[in-house]
Amino acid sequence: MSPATLEKASEKVVSAPKVRRTKLLINGEWVDSRSGKTFATYNPATEEKIADVAEGDAADIDLAAKAARKAFESGPWSKMDARDRGRLLNKLADLAETHLEELAGLETLDNGKPIADSRAADLPLAIDCLRYYAGWADKLVGETVPIRGNYFCYTKREPVGVAGQIIPWNFPLLMVAWKWAPALAAGCTIVMKPAEQTPLSCLRFAELALEAGIPPGVINVVPGYGPTAGAALVKHPDVDKIAFTGEHRTAQIIMADAAQTLKRLTFELGGKSPNIIFADCDLDAAVAGTEFGLFFNQGQCCCAGSRVFVEQSIHEKFVEKLIARAKQRKVGNPFDPSTTQGPQVDKAQFDKILSYIGKGNEAGAKCVTGGKRIGDKGFFIEPTVFDRVTDDMPIATDEIFGPVMSVLPFKDFDEVVTRANKTIFGLAAAVWTRDVGKAHRIAKSVRAGTVWVNCYDVFDAAAPFGGFKMSGIGRELGAAALNNYTELKTVTMSLD
Ligand code: NAI
Ligand code: MG
Repeated sequence: MSPATLEKASEKVVSAPKVRRTKLLINGEWVDSRSGKTFATYNPATEEKIADVAEGDAADIDLAAKAARKAFESGPWSKMDARDRGRLLNKLADLAETHLEELAGLETLDNGKPIADSRAADLPLAIDCLRYYAGWADKLVGETVPIRGNYFCYTKREPVGVAGQIIPWNFPLLMVAWKWAPALAAGCTIVMKPAEQTPLSCLRFAELALEAGIPPGVINVVPGYGPTAGAALVKHPDVDKIAFTGEHRTAQIIMADAAQTLKRLTFELGGKSPNIIFADCDLDAAVAGTEFGLFFNQGQCCCAGSRVFVEQSIHEKFVEKLIARAKQRKVGNPFDPSTTQGPQVDKAQFDKILSYIGKGNEAGAKCVTGGKRIGDKGFFIEPTVFDRVTDDMPIATDEIFGPVMSVLPFKDFDEVVTRANKTIFGLAAAVWTRDVGKAHRIAKSVRAGTVWVNCYDVFDAAAPFGGFKMSGIGRELGAAALNNYTELKTVTMSLD
């Protein structure tokens, strides 16, 4: 889609697409769950039911894992050339592009994110990710190793096997792309459990994967709940690896559940990322980047810049400008292309966020804008900024995952570094300054997987992403993600 057509399409309110797929995908067939159970998925903007979706549990996971195992070991996938796997990934990317409007609409319907974001961020990033890993499929090479003695020794990289993938609801389709693309490029097969809040785009995407020619059993999708379907996937002996994105407490349960079968684990978890604003920054750029860094996607980002450290000398001016920008955000119907903030994903998240706003007020932080629900239908919350937040307040320590920003004034470099690192998390950080040396010193000092300098939320399929500390294990994206889906094999041959 060209920028011109995007602009034209952005003039009128979009209508929601038809929901085509609500069943489980196992071995290339759309099936009901063994139990016959379904669960409802809701439109968070209206609180109305969108559709009933087949609810998978342990019995369905078992069938899916066996299908994936078979496709991996004896099916067409095991015999396919790496370059042809790459071609299929490119084909899926092309189909996603052809169906961009439909997929973007499904994402907005199920998750509540503004259609402008689904179109300009989620879909293009997902498509780019597929194409990036399509290029990797035939480039996973080993090494020849000079060992002692008369031997020829080499390493090769082989697919890890069946990958179990469990994803959250904040970027439903983008998370599918981050998980499927490197796994398929490496030659793995997949059992995916999408989030119970947002199963629809994943199911439609799986249909497109079949249309692209990805053989039956290579991708299996089992919607359902975490403690049932998710836990069964983690424990299944036919599954070699679990890739999980979500809350760190869930990751702790998964790690314990995975012990019995010693599964390979990669985790991409939450954060409480520091966004550090020095007095010598480009103030307007820093304010705009700070707004985006927290409020993008209704604040439902693992890397949200939720602790905004502002140098004392510019603190007042900064907060004033920030309030003005927060007030300009257009909260409302996510299908209106001019909307910049939609509803929170569900009642549980909505309640959690409002309870943290209450905790901020109780702790004595100053709510300088927002702080309330909008309307009485749909999970809309005002863009909220708390000023004069201190490090020990719950709004400064806990991941809120909503449109709630904490501003914390600071005096000097050493102090802000210490405070920025005073967290169990280490996913991302940002710094705003015109002093190159200072920027690099911050990049060196903060314990985080990603550091943005004079920008925020810049993602690219080629740039590794993941967390230090309790923000995760392993990296997604880039060449790094291929390590998650491959085993290294060493072959030694006698030359005598
Ligand atoms: P969650 O971690 O419980 O859910 C994420 C996925 O894990 C879902 O597919 C869920 O069904 C599955 N799951 C849950 N329990 C499981 C279990 N025992 N075994 C296997 N899979 C399981 O996150 P939830 O409840 O949706 O959100 C709670 C909080 O987590 C949010 O308020 C936010 O702070 C954080 N979060 C962080 C995300 C991130 O991108 N880092 C994404 C979503 C939530
Ligand atoms: Mg949960």
